[in-house]
Amino acid sequence: MPYLLILLLLTSCFKSKEKGALYLTESKPTIENLGTNPIIEDLERQVRLFEEKELEWQEIQKEALYEFKKIEKIVRKKCYDCHDSDTKLPIYGRVLPSINPVNHHQVDGIKALDMVHKFPLKAEGNPPQLALLKSFRNAVIDKTMPLKIYTKVYPFRKIRKKDQKKLLAWLNPLIEKVENFNDKYESINLDPTPAGRVKKVFANKCMRCHGNGVSKGGFGGMEDLEALKKSKHVNLENPTESELYLLSYNKKMPPSIRESLSDEELQTILDWIQAESAPKD
Ligand code: HEC
Ligand code: HEC
Repeated sequence: MPYLLILLLLTSCFKSKEKGALYLTESKPTIENLGTNPIIEDLERQVRLFEEKELEWQEIQKEALYEFKKIEKIVRKKCYDCHDSDTKLPIYGRVLPSINPVNHHQVDGIKALDMVHKFPLKAEGNPPQLALLKSFRNAVIDKTMPLKIYTKVYPFRKIRKKDQKKLLAWLNPLIEKVENFNDKYESINLDPTPAGRVKKVFANKCMRCHGNGVSKGGFGGMEDLEALKKSKHVNLENPTESELYLLSYNKKMPPSIRESLSDEELQTILDWIQAESAPKD
């Protein structure tokens, strides 16, 4: 973490240096601005913001863990078999792992969502908390989990109305909090370029299935925009014909209709492809 902070400080220093130089040459020194150095001020502001962010995140985490106790019994009974890397499979799940369906469900389940720390949630590829929390909520609302093949054997492990209510009572306020938190601290990593903005959309809506080592349907690597724009999924000649855009536009991707992209998010994808296809000078 300290390295990250130093890096952040250095980059913000270089960035604001230009602004600072302009400021110093363009403005006449007066009593008011003699004592203040915009570079230092900006640095201090960044550090304060960074520290504030860490503290606030710890608060969110503490409260989420405390509230989790109210749902732990439900998830332990109904989800942990496939979504907790500390839960051991029964012996019949461990024999012949490569062809054993029980083993497979656990391996894939933990990749998609690992509740081992309860909160923050974990998953392969390190998707943002918001994406994981929302997919958790969708699974609860639509009762797509636990897997049908599992509830055939264990009918009492289906999600009931009262489970749903309790799980949502944990998820809904937490999602709202994380959303507010993200909005509040967005300025720290704000990259207003089309590429910077599209990265956010992909991270929130696609990458937990198609990025950072995860490749559902054989499609991955969305974190690498340079490679992505050269792939068959992006059409630089006709941006609106890009498969990536069309699938999102037609609500085919993400698979859950609840996660469909907003008009603004769709436009952000289009803006990025158009920016990439514009001739550079
Ligand atoms: C029998 C095993 C099993 C049980 C029990 C189970 N799951 Fe899953 N779950 C899976 C598998 C396998 C996947 C991965 C599916 C895939 O990769 O397409 C998954 C994926 C998920 C995902 C990610 C879906 C997405 O869109 O990325 C969520 C969220 C989830 N499960 C929630 C739950 C919850 C909540 C429970 C308990 C109420 C639960 N699961 C119980 C096997 C299970
Ligand atoms: C919950 C997991 C999940 C999420 C989230 C998701 N996808 Fe997919 N995606 C899949 C699966 C599974 C397939 C393959 C099966 C299919 O075509 O339905 C797929 C296939 C694709 C393909 C086709 C690959 C090919 O070669 O045919 C593209 C392109 C794609 N997704 C783009 C996206 C985009 C863009 C987003 C975000 C806006 C997204 N996906 C979000 C699961 C997901």
